[in-house]
Amino acid sequence: MIGCGYLGAVHAACMAGLGHDVVGVDVDEGKVAALQSAAAPFYEPGLNELLADIQAGGTSGGATSGSLRFTTDLGQIAGARAHFVCVGTPQRRGENAADLRYVDAAFASAAAHLAPGDLIIGKSTVPVGTARRLAEDLHRTAPEARLVWNPEFLREGHAVTDTLHPDRLVYGIPDDPDRDATAAVLDEIYAAPLAGGSARLITDYPTAELVKTAANSFLATKISFINAMAELCEAAGADVTELADAIGLDDRIGRKFLNAGLGFGGGCLPKDIRAFMARAGELGADQALTFLREVDAINMRRRIRMVELAREVCDGSFLGQKIAVLGAAFKPESDDVRDSPALNVAAQIQLQGGNVVVTDPKALANAEHRFPDLQYEEDLETALTGADAVLLLTEWTQFTGLDPEATGALVRTRRILDGRNVLTPATWRAAGWTYRALGRP
Ligand code: UDX
Repeated sequence: MIGCGYLGAVHAACMAGLGHDVVGVDVDEGKVAALQSAAAPFYEPGLNELLADIQAGGTSGGATSGSLRFTTDLGQIAGARAHFVCVGTPQRRGENAADLRYVDAAFASAAAHLAPGDLIIGKSTVPVGTARRLAEDLHRTAPEARLVWNPEFLREGHAVTDTLHPDRLVYGIPDDPDRDATAAVLDEIYAAPLAGGSARLITDYPTAELVKTAANSFLATKISFINAMAELCEAAGADVTELADAIGLDDRIGRKFLNAGLGFGGGCLPKDIRAFMARAGELGADQALTFLREVDAINMRRRIRMVELAREVCDGSFLGQKIAVLGAAFKPESDDVRDSPALNVAAQIQLQGGNVVVTDPKALANAEHRFPDLQYEEDLETALTGADAVLLLTEWTQFTGLDPEATGALVRTRRILDGRNVLTPATWRAAGWTYRALGRP
């Protein structure tokens, strides 16, 4: 496993859990040491348990675990039959396009250690066309190695389950005489998920790359569609949650990813749709994706609208008011704060003079690192005490399960803004709260 960030660490642990012998390589010594002692440098439910189980020679998922070790020495990949590249492709500074420097460096340095017949398997999310270019480079540096593009669809917070039980496995392999033999090695690696019913599709390189970006674009579009409907509901006095339930019952539409609210954030959807637009431009097909600009714009407007709504509820000004922000992570069951809508809203309100206190069960350390000027409080009750308004911005169960009466006894003014449409308005209103949400009357 080359690159042991979010994707690589989870994939390494899961593959070892399936019985393979895995070596994970990363340039970051701290990360390597943490993973080696079964303490991942990020929060992902079940991951540390899986790492510890493998190290104890465990039997996760029924199979006897393989071995797993982490190192900073890339030379240790020699002797492996399959080399997964799992490095990041962040958004380039000041641009929409993806930064491919880590992918390029990983392939270039791995090439020297590849033996004839080895597979090198790209998992990173890349602009379409990258695999073909990397294959041409490999043709010069490691001519007998074979490149596969095998995108990853895991969700943060469900990464272990998603890796062990993916909906589908996509193998991007060129249509040449080696195709079946190459697919057979992957089938051996993924034997357990395949036996468990995961679908398997073999495509060419560009299609495999596009499966990932198209899927993420569709998900982002679905969220922004319902958030656009929320804007309309606000204008018309309708309720977007009832609308989503009703249209979601049409199984051609489906209820999943129709939760209106503060919109999407995180390390994937926002950057992936932007990189996709940039790539379409390079390919002369930018018109095909102009709608994604609108998807992005709708998403960003929700954050601004949330701040407006909060200010309205606070009688037009945040000055002298304590605002309790519940949530820092971009979504629950994660400590990831990359492009977090919650922190974006918290920072805007602070800029407008609010006395903002942010609380989150897992993400405060990361939040503090990114937004050092915000005020943080680990204890939920302390964060709520004396608040003039409560903003629920990440739907952790600790927050969605709050009792209106008990919470009401802590705050100064009973005002709640439900940024994720997860509370029952009637219950809160019955307890004397001013309840407001995006897209609900
Ligand atoms: C996403 C894709 O789901 C995953 O398949 C891909 O591999 C990586 O990107 P992830 O970023 O972990 O995964 O989070 P996801 O669960 O998709 O949520 C993304 C954002 O959308 C979150 O901020 C979430 O709060 C928001 N969201 C999701 C909504 O606002 N409404 C919804 O209905 C669903």
